[in-house]
Amino acid sequence: MNDERNRAPGGVPYLSLQREYQDLRDEWMQAIDGAGASGAFILGPNVRAFEEEAAAYVGAKYAVAVASGTDALVLSLRALGIGPGDEVITTPFTFFATAEAVSLVGATPVFADVEAGSFNIDPASVRERIGPKTRAILPVHIFGNPADMTALGAIAREHGLHVIEDAAQAFGAMHGGARVGGLGDCGCFSFYPTKVLGCYGDGGLITTSDEGVRERLLRLRNHGATRPFIHVEPGYNSRLDEIQAALLRIKLRRIEDAVAARRQVAAWYDRRLSGLDLIRPEPAAGGRHAYNLYTIRHPRRDALREHLSAHGIGTSQCYPQPLHLQEVYAHLGYRPGDLPVVEALCHETLSLPIFPDLGEDQVACVCKRVAEVSPG
Ligand SMILES: Cc1ncc(COP(=O)(O)O)c(C=O)c1O
Repeated sequence: MNDERNRAPGGVPYLSLQREYQDLRDEWMQAIDGAGASGAFILGPNVRAFEEEAAAYVGAKYAVAVASGTDALVLSLRALGIGPGDEVITTPFTFFATAEAVSLVGATPVFADVEAGSFNIDPASVRERIGPKTRAILPVHIFGNPADMTALGAIAREHGLHVIEDAAQAFGAMHGGARVGGLGDCGCFSFYPTKVLGCYGDGGLITTSDEGVRERLLRLRNHGATRPFIHVEPGYNSRLDEIQAALLRIKLRRIEDAVAARRQVAAWYDRRLSGLDLIRPEPAAGGRHAYNLYTIRHPRRDALREHLSAHGIGTSQCYPQPLHLQEVYAHLGYRPGDLPVVEALCHETLSLPIFPDLGEDQVACVCKRVAEVSPG
């Protein structure tokens, strides 16, 4: 994606998966051939093996593979019985799919403010929003930085709420020595190609240690069927295919190296950007940031983005508009100023290139251009 920029002299792509593909190609081609020859194309042996391997990695009893991260969220909410009349407290600083999933099951998202440093949902703000209709808290480990699951878990226990982790961007991230996705009732992952663990298409996964939830997820992903042609509730066609599962198994075996490489890139940025007039990402204390994105706060964000673009450096504006002020949620009645921290972030954040194969020379090139717009 955006690989053209590789060829711009002095340019740096926002993301490039080409080298990774070349490294994995032979192994994946063999796996595709094996899947084709076996005749099992959907929910076959690679999917089952991947579910077991991913559950073991995350530290949950079970994993259920689905068609996307969005589906992982929708199916988790449904499996936990959340629907019309219920409220789910979540963050407005995330990709729309997080809140969209709540709306799709007929429940109402209630937006809490975020922490200025970690960009994650602020537990104090969550506490203020709990009411009689609240059924769940839906934190996002934004950009790969683990949310404060200790504080959120304590609030949830106190009020009898479910916790659904949106870990779409955070495969391999850790909180307090445990991997994210295993810390709530359900952990939801996306395997969209840009993610820390990405496939070459769409895919998703739910982790859970509750057998009843797992049973319901298994039938929800397959039209609510308990066995062929026997349907107990309306579900979805949300199944992972063997070709993506085979790739995910190959990439899962290398995931620690991939996370370490991302963390190395982040460390290069941290060193070279220190002392400049900007705010670097703040990894959560006692955790492990997986650096799906490296997102800075900059007082002249738009000028910086233009300057980098003029030099062939790809960036992304995650996220330009907080979800509570999106048109789709106008009926919820939020006003500018209601959630001041997230509203300030949306004017200042810019995500710089990061991917495991990014070289130190490329990071140096980005930082040199950043420094031209942000002297210390
Ligand atoms: C935080 C977050 N939640 C949910 C999703 C949805 O995942 P998918 O694109 O696989 O449906 C994404 C990614 O795109 C995401 O970044």
